[in-house]
Amino acid sequence: MAQQKKESLIITIAGGGSGYTPGLILTMIKQKEQFDISEIRLYDIDEVRNNDMGIIIKFLLMKHKSSIHLTITHNPQEAFEGADFIFSQIRAGGIEMREQDEKVPLKYGVTGQETCGLGGFSYGMRSMKSFLNMVESIQTYAQNAWILNYTNPESIIAESVRRRFPDIKIINACDMTIGIEELIANSFGYDRKQWMPDYYGLNHFGWYKSIYDASRNEDIMPEILNKIKEKGFVLEGLESSWAEAYKLMEMMINYFPEQIPNNYLEYYLFPNKVVEKTDPNYTRANRIMDTKLKKIKDTVAQIQNNPDLEAIDYETSVHGEYIVDMALAILNNKHDRFMLIVPNKGAIPNLRQDAVVEVPCYVNAKGVEPVSLRENIPDFHKGLMEAQVAAEKLLVDAFFENSYQKALQAFSLNQSVPNAEVAKKVLDEFIQVNGDQWVELN
Ligand code: G6P
Ligand code: MN
Repeated sequence: MAQQKKESLIITIAGGGSGYTPGLILTMIKQKEQFDISEIRLYDIDEVRNNDMGIIIKFLLMKHKSSIHLTITHNPQEAFEGADFIFSQIRAGGIEMREQDEKVPLKYGVTGQETCGLGGFSYGMRSMKSFLNMVESIQTYAQNAWILNYTNPESIIAESVRRRFPDIKIINACDMTIGIEELIANSFGYDRKQWMPDYYGLNHFGWYKSIYDASRNEDIMPEILNKIKEKGFVLEGLESSWAEAYKLMEMMINYFPEQIPNNYLEYYLFPNKVVEKTDPNYTRANRIMDTKLKKIKDTVAQIQNNPDLEAIDYETSVHGEYIVDMALAILNNKHDRFMLIVPNKGAIPNLRQDAVVEVPCYVNAKGVEPVSLRENIPDFHKGLMEAQVAAEKLLVDAFFENSYQKALQAFSLNQSVPNAEVAKKVLDEFIQVNGDQWVELN
């Protein structure tokens, strides 16, 4: 019998305890006319954080008079069986290991960051292990579900999934380009929803080629570049670490004035500046602990002690909108355009074909249809990307082959690293610090 189109959906949020969950769920509630959901499941191996988030989400559903059923679970079968979509935002090792990813490299004078440089590689090794295990469960319990994945570090995750599960229904997405487009639109008064940007790169490692504005029928990137050079971004109201990142993005544009870079390139082009401005004893992880994570605890306490429907301060989010729009594009066969992480296969003609790249894609009932760039990219970008792809591939090899040698090659090739001696010291410390959260390397 032909499968009937389901009336209402079951959505599982893997990494349910994350601070991103309220914004995501509020966006789903806001879109309820189009997004008919009967059940949301919060799945997390951290039961304390998942239960805390459950208290908040239950309260938000009540506040918005939603009849969506809420399930809180750390059991994969309960989480995935019968699910239609799995939104994955898991963070292997939690915020405590993010702190290590950031602090260990800084001890040796190199970039300490959750997704870039050697911190990103440390997280990558942990994340592959957790994520692939989870995908295996999903394949057992919900083979037909779509996985919308924004688990970091995305390129490494996407490469490992491509190797282990080449045919599954997964979309790898990152919201950073939306963040950049919001920044530009808010700084200079544009409507980014009119844009069809052309962009190429790896995840957290790319460049805008053009920004076509449909309301004007022209490429407005030259105009935007001039505005950035003349006035700079408007950074008021942003968290200080993001404001600092966007300052370095302006500096990249001053050095290389023809394209708009992804802000994350700061870690490869100006690692010295990044190290200088980072307090090795108080990194971004510490800031998240003292803000986002504290807010979760405070909110739970407030709900338990003095529930006041108005006082709970969570809103819909750009991030949530991005994920929900993607699910809706699949469900309603909408052909909406997103920047996604996909196997290259010709999208960037002069880059190795087996890379995973980030390019514009259309999303519809079939899944993802990438846009081919058709033109070669400049040698400067190609060279930077080829080194990064090779380093990431070596790391994924190290993971699948349990190879210390490959891991050392990956660490040495990472462009935030000055020499193999530093690479080895950081690798050896990360092996200690991560313990069995990494596969064994021999
Ligand atoms: C952007 C990136 C994500 C990253 C996040 C970090 O959204 O695209 O990949 O996880 O920033 O934000 P945080 O507030 O955790 O430092
Ligand atoms: Mn990202």
